[in-house]
Amino acid sequence: MGATLVLCKPDAVERGLVGEILTRFERKGLRIAAARLLHVDADLAARHYAEHTHKPFYPELRDFIGRSPALALVLEGPDDTYAIVRALMGPTNPAAAPPGTIRGDFGLEVTENLVHGSDGEASAAREIALFFPDLEL
Ligand code: RTP
Ligand code: MG
Repeated sequence: MGATLVLCKPDAVERGLVGEILTRFERKGLRIAAARLLHVDADLAARHYAEHTHKPFYPELRDFIGRSPALALVLEGPDDTYAIVRALMGPTNPAAAPPGTIRGDFGLEVTENLVHGSDGEASAAREIALFFPDLEL
């Protein structure tokens, strides 16, 4: 069994796409183990996106991720659940994401790309602990 962190980013919540996005993960066979609607403030953004804080795009990313609530989820499935989620999301830049992926079907530009998914087992464990400190899987 594996688990990964997903964020439906503020653009997804604002546009009413949370149901559509969750439906895709559920139809694939993944299970919702935890969910929380929250405001990702600057402190949480810096901890979640620690590897990006020094990059030129970081201020825009921080402001976007905190501009309105996001839905944080833990999805459970097989060992490679993080990779399954990333395949359903599509590449970072929605302009390059193929149709049939979440970013390819609903996104236009790289900042407002609708979803986050952990990029490995170690980052999944770290990010789940950050957003759901009391969760026992
Ligand atoms: P995420 O972490 O949000 O799931 O996205 P990702 O793995 O596909 O992409 P990553 O490289 O981790 O980048 C994190 C987020 O930063 C924004 N970004 N902007 N303007 C740019 O060049 C740029 N590059 C990345 C995106 O919102 C991306 O999701
Ligand atoms: Mg990433």
